[in-house]
Amino acid sequence: MPVTGVETLVYGVNDIEECVTFFTDFGLTLHDRTEACARFRLDEGSHVELRHIDDPTLPETILQDTGVREVIWGVDTEESLEALVKGLETDRKVLHDNDGTVHFHSDDGLAFGLRVFTRKKVVYSPDPVNAPGHVNRLNVSRKWKTRARPKTINHVVFAVPDFVKSYRFFEERLGFRLTEYQLFCGIYLRCDGANDHHNLFFLDQNMAGAPGYPAFHHANFGVEDIDEMMVGANYMSRRGWTYGMLGTGRHRISSALFTYFRCPTGGEVEYGTDSDYIDDNYVPREWDALFGLQSWMGLLPDFLKNAEPEWHAKHITKGFPDHIRTKADLPEDGKIA
Ligand SMILES: [Fe+2]
Repeated sequence: MPVTGVETLVYGVNDIEECVTFFTDFGLTLHDRTEACARFRLDEGSHVELRHIDDPTLPETILQDTGVREVIWGVDTEESLEALVKGLETDRKVLHDNDGTVHFHSDDGLAFGLRVFTRKKVVYSPDPVNAPGHVNRLNVSRKWKTRARPKTINHVVFAVPDFVKSYRFFEERLGFRLTEYQLFCGIYLRCDGANDHHNLFFLDQNMAGAPGYPAFHHANFGVEDIDEMMVGANYMSRRGWTYGMLGTGRHRISSALFTYFRCPTGGEVEYGTDSDYIDDNYVPREWDALFGLQSWMGLLPDFLKNAEPEWHAKHITKGFPDHIRTKADLPEDGKIA
């Protein structure tokens, strides 16, 4: 029943025009625009949809503030969609649109949708990397770029009251796979039909950098390599947009390079590249939260300046124990492996 990743991020925002300018500067292509809605389409065929936060077509949600209000997940076939819907309809209301899209709420009260979606394969050709004695580019320069043009939506992140409960729903009802568990911080999940390191992250709403209540946190858009990421970041900076809390660096979890920007939609956007790609042979790990957060950062924030985080990363060979259904079931030290 493969879910293949994000098909559409539906945002509720205060100022659609300002957000159109932001995403255009970020490198997305505006596909259609009406008074009520602006829709960007990425090369893979996925979408960013912007609506006013008071738009009555937006679904109910426990999420506060502006930002992503609904994620429509792409599903590979009609048969897969029917199987998922059949399971969901056993204990919740599922709304059916005329175009075949269905809408529902997860156990924690977030709004999601499912839609049959054929994701287009995108083409990248990152420049080979050189090191002394390991020359992959001889007499050849790296590509010169002027702008970032993200081609994929890699993942979306929500701050939630109970990240274990949120994770359980997606694993058991939609076939998502556990990728990593960051102690006391959150759980990373991958769609069963995707090889991204993660497509969804549930962050504890009380963590530093989270608002203390349920809210959209950020969305990650894929670029080719570090050059595209930094050229894009420089362009955004020149256009007056502000870096996000973590700025630029490399996550240790997923190995991905990142640059965050604050976004007028609410929450942040992230340029992402050089991530790990995984499949069902991957063994999830539990991580010390700060150790997993970063291998390095361009500007070390205050909370990392004074001490090295604990070097803790341990494989979870048997997944989450069955009795851990909610955050309250976690052991006192948070460790399950
Ligand atoms: Fe991210």
